Amino acid sequence: MKKQFFIANWKSHKTADEATQWFVEAAADIHLTKDSEREVVICPPFPLLSLCAEEVKKQQIPFAIGAQDVSSFSEGAYTGEVSGRLIKDFATYVIIGHSERRRYFHETDEMLFEKVKQAHAYGLQVVYCVDSKEGKIPEGVNIVAYEPVAAIGTGHPDDPSDAEAVAGFLKAQNGVSYVLYGGSVTAEDIANYTQLPSIDGVLVGGASLAPKDFISLIQHA
Ligand code: 13P
Repeated sequence: MKKQFFIANWKSHKTADEATQWFVEAAADIHLTKDSEREVVICPPFPLLSLCAEEVKKQQIPFAIGAQDVSSFSEGAYTGEVSGRLIKDFATYVIIGHSERRRYFHETDEMLFEKVKQAHAYGLQVVYCVDSKEGKIPEGVNIVAYEPVAAIGTGHPDDPSDAEAVAGFLKAQNGVSYVLYGGSVTAEDIANYTQLPSIDGVLVGGASLAPKDFISLIQHA
């Protein structure tokens, strides 16, 4: 069986209490058999990284932790920034270039390329987001998430054949090992994507916020 990624992007959701509750419920609900080919990653907001890293240990849940962003600067006088050096104590993955960061925070390809350098400098695995097959992918990136903007949070996922074509193109053009699909993925439609040859998993927003939905989604892949 090929390796599959199930990455939860909580975006700007959840208090500390709500995050703790998520892991308590996930631990009670989890009926996943151990599978070394399945990588599940939870990406909470920055203030919850430490708590979530503790919870997966405490609840003995075989999930990794990821950040949703990283500074393009190293440690230093950069008020409000969170550098790879700080993130690496709690997380093994980082999402870079999400369309919401590009759109609302005006992140450019140049800035994102710097972020990738920082993430790699601190040993973080990058999940690099693009919204089309034209997206530029920085060198050294091995996991790409294809997230067409029209599919994000709208309940209108991309056509699976289109997602497959983009994933195949991104692999052929850039030599990346894994391409994930993201945009309105649910338990009902996940298999339409994960069963395709060029798609290696999913990046999930809304359907990751309730543990029951997220675990059900993994089981339906
Ligand atoms: P939704 O699953 O809510 O559409 O969000 C997708 C996404 O942006 C994940 O990064």
